Amino acid sequence: MEIVETQAQAKAIIRSWKGQKFSIGLVPTMGYLHEGHASLIRLARADNERVAVSVFVNPTQFAPGEDLASYPRDFERDRELCQSLGVDLIFHPQPVEMYPPGYATYVEAPSLSVNLCGRSRPTHFRGVLTVVLKLFALLGPDRAYFGLKDAQQFFIIKRMVEDLGLDLAMIPGPTVREPDGLALSSRNVYLSPAERSAALVLQRALRAAERLLRAGERRSDLILAEMRRIVVAETLARLDYAEIVETRGLSLIPQVTGQALVAIAVFFGKTRLIDNFLWEAEA
Ligand code: PAJ
Repeated sequence: MEIVETQAQAKAIIRSWKGQKFSIGLVPTMGYLHEGHASLIRLARADNERVAVSVFVNPTQFAPGEDLASYPRDFERDRELCQSLGVDLIFHPQPVEMYPPGYATYVEAPSLSVNLCGRSRPTHFRGVLTVVLKLFALLGPDRAYFGLKDAQQFFIIKRMVEDLGLDLAMIPGPTVREPDGLALSSRNVYLSPAERSAALVLQRALRAAERLLRAGERRSDLILAEMRRIVVAETLARLDYAEIVETRGLSLIPQVTGQALVAIAVFFGKTRLIDNFLWEAEA
């Protein structure tokens, strides 16, 4: 496994792989890897001759006052996990390598960034799209792997790939959860024991929405009211949003028809956790 910090080193390796006609799978991450990341790396390992993982806490996707400085980091552990999963290349740049002084170019999809996480983090997806496009340009993957835990992120990047005509396949991976249902997240380490128990409210709200949909309810306002009621009843939780959107334009839908994303974000103290499920159109 090679570990490189500069774009020039990464480029040289990618050039040699391309010369040998190796297919390349890319798993972009911000490190502090857990089983959710590992599941994506395994998918990439199964599909490609070479697997690259980026470990980069991307400053442009954090707003002032968010947790950029305190975001958990443990590169040694990340390195060992990648090694054990058969990763070929870790790209681990410093911020100045990706954004040198005078850096000026950003990518955005404003209409896809108004709802869900885009509402409370208005500059977030601009940072995500920018860094992901830079990683795609540098590492030239045939396939890129993203988790549906961050479903809005997946759909926005997928649209960037389509709109810009990038020659790569976007591969989604299912959300990996703790035995009690909490979605794995690098941010779960911020939770106190009491907040960790309270965090199950995301699951309770989403399962309630799913039950209503299965029972035939299609009115978004009624489904969302039930989700909000459940979150409000949990004293340590503060609802950021509960929304239902269609998965192409990511716009709010009053009636659930076709593929819909039911998503929720909840604060526990300063820690904000997200979760969702995809509702597929009935056959
Ligand atoms: P990060 O939060 O480290 O997540 C990296 C990838 O792992 C993302 O595709 C995310 O959806 C996926 N992931 C996280 N938790 C997961 C879980 N419980 N189950 C399945 N997949 C999970 O997302 C980012 O980093 C950044 O925004 C990034 C795309 C790297 C751009 O900076």
